[in-house]
Amino acid sequence: MRNVAAALTDVNITQIDADAVVVGLHAESPLTGPAAELNKALGGTLTKLIERKEITGKRNELTTLLAPSGIKAGTVVVVGLGPRDTFDRGAAYKAAAAAAKHLSTKERGKVAFYLAADWPDDVAENGICGSLVGCVGQDLYRTKPSRYPFTDVVWSDVTPKVLHDGQTLANAVNLTRKLVNEPPSEMYPESFASVAVQVAESHGLGIEVWDQARLEAERCGALLAVGRGSDRESRLVIVKYNGGPADGPLLAIVGKGVTFDAGGLSIKPSDGMKTMKCDMAGAATMLGAMQAIAELKLPVNVIGLCGLVENMLGGSAFKLGDVLKARSGKTIEVLNTDAEGRLVLADVLDVAVQHNPAKIIDLATLTGACVVALGTDVAGVMTNDQTWCDAVKAAAEYCGEPMWQLPMFPEFGEQIRSEVADIKNIGEGRWGGAITAAKFLEEFVAGRPWVHVDIAGPAFYDGAKPWSDAGGSGYGVRTLVEVARRAAEG
Ligand code: BES
Ligand code: MN
Ligand code: ZN
Repeated sequence: MRNVAAALTDVNITQIDADAVVVGLHAESPLTGPAAELNKALGGTLTKLIERKEITGKRNELTTLLAPSGIKAGTVVVVGLGPRDTFDRGAAYKAAAAAAKHLSTKERGKVAFYLAADWPDDVAENGICGSLVGCVGQDLYRTKPSRYPFTDVVWSDVTPKVLHDGQTLANAVNLTRKLVNEPPSEMYPESFASVAVQVAESHGLGIEVWDQARLEAERCGALLAVGRGSDRESRLVIVKYNGGPADGPLLAIVGKGVTFDAGGLSIKPSDGMKTMKCDMAGAATMLGAMQAIAELKLPVNVIGLCGLVENMLGGSAFKLGDVLKARSGKTIEVLNTDAEGRLVLADVLDVAVQHNPAKIIDLATLTGACVVALGTDVAGVMTNDQTWCDAVKAAAEYCGEPMWQLPMFPEFGEQIRSEVADIKNIGEGRWGGAITAAKFLEEFVAGRPWVHVDIAGPAFYDGAKPWSDAGGSGYGVRTLVEVARRAAEG
């Protein structure tokens, strides 16, 4: 996994020997700090452009000045920061990422960010993170890359700790994105598990990988059923980080790791299947977050779990009408093999519960219905514990990763009662599908405080955004780290 390098600079913006410098401008605000110094050295060019409304400072607006005279740097990028009063960590992440993405289309050595002069540490950390994420794309297999991560990224006006933490977050987000962006022929249960082993070994995390035999011994009947139609074996991965007191509370992070979702016998049409390598994004988000939590040495105890399977249509595939016995003992009637994520999570949540967590959070690209409800940029959250849910939502809002809560009225739970077994794996009809899926998961958390985050929308960008290439977005990593940070504070 590539490590992006960042460093501090105390060289003035007019003096720095860099391929490019980046400054920011708020909408309807005067130039301040390095942007003002730069403007002076450029003989007032920026003021003129602002007067002519060529530059407005609206969010993620990018203006490039090539070969400007009066300064040493070869290129200037002015990025719009939007209105000052609504500027926050999420906006900083996106603005820095947009500038980085823009500059990364050409090979560059040193890129210097002069954005943080009046940013508090938490905002700067997110900006640094964005600058190291935006320059990395999904072009993993292009002979001629479309994006060139900078050899050298420097930031002015930040502390070494903020720089380190921002870089740590970026490495985690980029790890998650890469895992999602790998094609399904490369990223399957066994190969994902071996990446998890590498991450654990290089970060001092405990790790357990359950192979097919162990999964059978553990009676993971729901997870195993989903994997039966594939030639690839299934896996369950448990990552452990003990940074807190031995008797301190345990946070469990659970991720859906369907490395490819063909839908099984309830096969998906091509259009719905083409991006289904992203169906392990929950697992990838868990792993990215665990890496960052370990690297930041947060004083918390966290356990990360994911179920890894491929949902295929081989001759042994599970069938409609099958009744599965989950690890918890509950029986499940299968009425749609494309509602597989909840089956995998049923067993993983049961394993999580066995570790006696004080709180559980799961992330899953679980339902198209959630995307219908909330669009592609917003995750759905559902819970059995409002206090825990409020904490997760607050952390997400703080990071600028939008989440919106959906109700868990008991009527939705009645939809998954089965005539044949304890429960069935789909509701009556498709309405409210994100919620019936959550109601299914709730059956397996044994009443523990639990938050379910349906990331089917934001985990994967179908098209490019101003701040990111299309593909895996890394959505949720920063929120999970923030949740762990807050848990550390009590
Ligand atoms: N992995 C999909 C959900 C999904 C859809 C993720 C779009 C990302 C983007 C999930 O396994 C699935 O197929 N869900 C079904 C459930 C239905 C059969 C009850 C769906 O949403 O159609
Ligand atoms: Mn599916
Ligand atoms: Zn799926």
